[in-house]
Amino acid sequence: MLIEHEALHNHWYVVAEAADVSGSPVAVRLLGRDLVVWRSTSGDVVAAPDRCPHREAPLSEGTVEDGCLVCPYHGWKFADEGRCVEVPSSGAGKKVPPAAHLATVLAQERYGLVWLCLGDPVARIPEMAAEHDDAYRRINSGVDVWATSATRMTDNFLDISHFPYVHIGTFGIAQNSDVPKIEMQRLDDDFFGYEYDVEVRNDDESGKEASGQSADVIHRRMSTGFNLPFTVRSTIHYETGLDHLILLCSTPIDDDRSYFTFVIWRNDDFSVPGQEVIVFDRAIGAEDKMMLEKVKGVLPLDQKATVSVQSDKPSVEWRRRLAALLDA
Ligand code: FES
Ligand code: FE
Repeated sequence: MLIEHEALHNHWYVVAEAADVSGSPVAVRLLGRDLVVWRSTSGDVVAAPDRCPHREAPLSEGTVEDGCLVCPYHGWKFADEGRCVEVPSSGAGKKVPPAAHLATVLAQERYGLVWLCLGDPVARIPEMAAEHDDAYRRINSGVDVWATSATRMTDNFLDISHFPYVHIGTFGIAQNSDVPKIEMQRLDDDFFGYEYDVEVRNDDESGKEASGQSADVIHRRMSTGFNLPFTVRSTIHYETGLDHLILLCSTPIDDDRSYFTFVIWRNDDFSVPGQEVIVFDRAIGAEDKMMLEKVKGVLPLDQKATVSVQSDKPSVEWRRRLAALLDA
C-alpha cells in the first residue's frame, strides 16, 4: 500500500478549499485517515482526527459555535489548538481530563486552499511567485474527488504524449503525436521538469476565452515540473505575452481515491470572470479524469513493472525520486 509509507506524512497536501471551511466542520480523509477541519476562534483552520476522545463520535457531524468545535454526542467543546474547554456533564468550571484534548495535525492556508501535514514537514508548500505579483490574478477551481491514485494523476500531469489522444476533444491535435527530445532541468527552487513548445487547437469558444486569441491553432511555450510527492506545475506562455500558470494538486485519500484541485494564475486584463476563463481547463481535467478512472490501482513504483519510452522521461525521473523519498 502506497499510503502506508510513513515518509508521506511529512509533506503538505490539499484537502479542501479555504472558503469551504467556514460555518460547519468539514470531514476530509488524508492518507487513509479521517480528519475534521474547522475554523477556530482565532480564524485559523484547525485539523484533528475525526474521532471524539470521549466515545469516538465523528466530530465532523458536530457544529462550530463561537469558533469551538462541539461534539454531536455529548457536547464536549474544543477550542483553539483542539483544546477541550468544556465537558457539559461535569458541570461548569470542572477540570477537563488532559487526554480529552485533540491531537491536532498541522494545517495552513495557501493559495485559497487548506493544506495539511500529518507529520513533521520536510519541505515547504511550493512557492508560486505570481501569488505576490499584482499583474496576476488567482482563480481557484474547487476540490474534486477522482477514483484513481495520486501516482496515476502525477504521472499523467507530467506527460504530454497523451495530448493527441485523451485531449483530442479540447486542445489536442492528432498529428502532434511525436514528442521532441525532453531535457530535464531544475526549473526553480521548487520544481524539477522540462520546457517545450506545442501547437494546440484553439477552435472552441472556451478555449479562445482562455488563450485570449482567435486563431484556430496557436503556439504555446510551456514548462511542466513536479514537486514531490504529488504536485505539478504547468506554465503556458502565449506569444501575446499572456502567462497562464497551473498548479495541479493531487492528494491521496486512499490508494485508489484522490482529491484533485487546480489553481490558475494569469496576467490577463481581469475582464473575463475567472470561472469563465477556467471552463476550458475544467474540460481538460475531465478528460484526464475519465481516462485515469479506467486504470486500476497505484502506478507501480518498480520501473520495470511498466514500459517507458523517451517521452516518459519526466515521469520516470519523478517516480525515481518518489521511490527514494518513500525509502528514506
Ligand atoms: Fe463526543 Fe461523547 S462522544 S462528547
Ligand atoms: Fe492530460
